[in-house]
Amino acid sequence: MVQVYTLASGKGGTGKTTLTVNLGTSLALLGKETFIMDADIGMANLGLILGLEDVPVTLHEVLAGKANVKDAIYEGPGGVKVIPSGISLQGFQQADPENLRDVMKDLVDRCEFLLIDAPAGISRDGVIPLAIADQVILVVNPELASIVDSLKIKILTEVVGGHVLGAILNRAGPDRSDLISQKMERVLGVKVIGTIPEDPNVRRAAASKTPVVIKFPESGSSIAIKRIAAELAGVAFKEPMKGEVTQDGFIDRFARVLFRSKT
Ligand SMILES: Nc1ncnc2c1ncn2[C@@H]1O[C@H](COP(=O)(O)OP(=O)(O)O)[C@@H](O)[C@H]1O
Ligand SMILES: [Mg+2]
Repeated sequence: MVQVYTLASGKGGTGKTTLTVNLGTSLALLGKETFIMDADIGMANLGLILGLEDVPVTLHEVLAGKANVKDAIYEGPGGVKVIPSGISLQGFQQADPENLRDVMKDLVDRCEFLLIDAPAGISRDGVIPLAIADQVILVVNPELASIVDSLKIKILTEVVGGHVLGAILNRAGPDRSDLISQKMERVLGVKVIGTIPEDPNVRRAAASKTPVVIKFPESGSSIAIKRIAAELAGVAFKEPMKGEVTQDGFIDRFARVLFRSKT
């Protein structure tokens, strides 16, 4: 049975695309058949951060009824399958977000996990991914405005018949993240399923068009993301032992080769 998760937030820039890519890659590395889809059709950047900006067929053409979704699936890092959106304004104008439901029907038999990167806010393109997911995950930053905006998304999700699994606190500072999590749980009325620290390695990895969980697998953000992925997959998470930690050194590269051969 496929599990469909939509990553959503009230305001932009909270880390939805980063988490879609990295949770998707982590699930794929766990051996799960995983698809990630860029439903942020107006401000598409999932393909961009994976170096897939020049591909011939994207979700735009699929939603415009000009192509089949199977032609918009590309191989991503760690074996994750990627369905990017196009970056042209014309492609966006021709894409009909109502067709997302049919696209999903075509995908459900092909994978175990489908992660949807949703647009920020409460636009029409944003509502459909909230309604079609099995579970919505709110991506929230440790600021009051981000928490309050996410509350709107939670309410909207429930209004359209969707269900919120919980929230991820992303870009957490070194202090008070427990306190902020508690506050978030109180305000949002949902569980915080994971906390990811502010980590400069996220941008460094993005600059080389590689997910941080592959580029810097032992960094704080990677470990937190892999922990959430293990939870979603229902498998035990193995904490790296002190001393194993290297900056993308020999052990990381060796482990990656091993992981790859399993997928
Ligand atoms: N945990 C993190 N630590 C540091 N930078 C982060 C983290 N998560 C995301 N970012 C950065 O924040 C910016 C916005 O992230 P992005 O995933 O594009 O957000 P969204 O898709 O919600 O608009 C990007 O530059 C990304 O590299
Ligand atoms: Mg984004």
